[in-house]
Amino acid sequence: DSTKVYRASTTAPVNIAVVKYWGKRDTKLNLPTNSSLSVTLSQADLRTLTTASCSASYSDGDNLTLNGEASDVSGARTQACFRELRTLRASAELADPSLPKLSQMPLRIASENNFPTAAGLASSAAGFAALVRAIANLYELRESPTELSIIARQGSGSACRSLFGGYVAWRMGSLADGSDSLAVQLAEASHWPEMRALILIVSTAKKGVSSTSGMQQTVATSGLFKERISAVVPSHMDAMEEAIDQKDFAKFADVAMRDSNSFHATCADTYPPIFYMNDVSRAAIRAVELVNREAGRTVAAYTFDAGPNAVIYHLEKDKDLILGAFKSVVGGVDGWKAEDTEDAATAEASK
Ligand code: PMV
Repeated sequence: DSTKVYRASTTAPVNIAVVKYWGKRDTKLNLPTNSSLSVTLSQADLRTLTTASCSASYSDGDNLTLNGEASDVSGARTQACFRELRTLRASAELADPSLPKLSQMPLRIASENNFPTAAGLASSAAGFAALVRAIANLYELRESPTELSIIARQGSGSACRSLFGGYVAWRMGSLADGSDSLAVQLAEASHWPEMRALILIVSTAKKGVSSTSGMQQTVATSGLFKERISAVVPSHMDAMEEAIDQKDFAKFADVAMRDSNSFHATCADTYPPIFYMNDVSRAAIRAVELVNREAGRTVAAYTFDAGPNAVIYHLEKDKDLILGAFKSVVGGVDGWKAEDTEDAATAEASK
């Protein structure tokens, strides 16, 4: 039946790194210069919803809409994901000739974010994870999330970590073809159910320097970056894995804040320098320091991606303390939009 439409939908959550990916050793395959580690947020507030369909009757080739607007599918990243998924489907069709030849049909992808795109809120991570998962579901692929992470990585590096819920490591790998540069789940969200992430929207504007371009400039010009990838990140990876394993919040927070600072320091050391944080971001850092000092223990950790928005990790029991601290300390700062997006880091990437 040449008019039949095959369809599958899925959602993928945002992940926020606590040991950051910054730097590519291979720009085509998105192979990183260091391993990274993230916490996947719940899908209550931050997620991408994607529907993939295909049909022999689609006459206009592959196409993609993002939040209802036509988006370019000709980019190398999207093409790489389509090509890899089609190859897997084609080999399944070869093994079982009774399967419909979905691999030969044009694809239509419709994606919707419920948060600002490209404002340093890891929209590309959820976006490519959802795209890969939706097409894998459409094609009824049997590959594991880790195997799919190798494909999602080629869409956007950080996307490989959004194939899992909970605590996720992206192992940088060493092979030139990228087959060992993949994501693994370190622990389910239920391992540490008290973990929360408060998202503070400082700005919903698109980021000034894209992560791809920023990374390229940092790799090319920063001396500090060499120290970061050779010594700083390896020790942060070890310490962070221990902190998660032991559910040691003070240690988790210490490493997360140091790693965010180290990443933004390499951005400042890039020539010309790149600034993702602004005055409001820095006020958030001071607010975290103050609430930790006043509590007499570590109750909050900040981290910033390639944009000014703050993600504050804390434990459920300290929720009132954290919300109070941010209302009184930075609530009055101009440009501050402390949205009520308290987000439990408890959900898993949907299958
Ligand atoms: O996946 P990309 O190319 O959007 O890069 C993401 C880089 C950071 O968000 C700054 C860090 C990370 O590990 O997610």
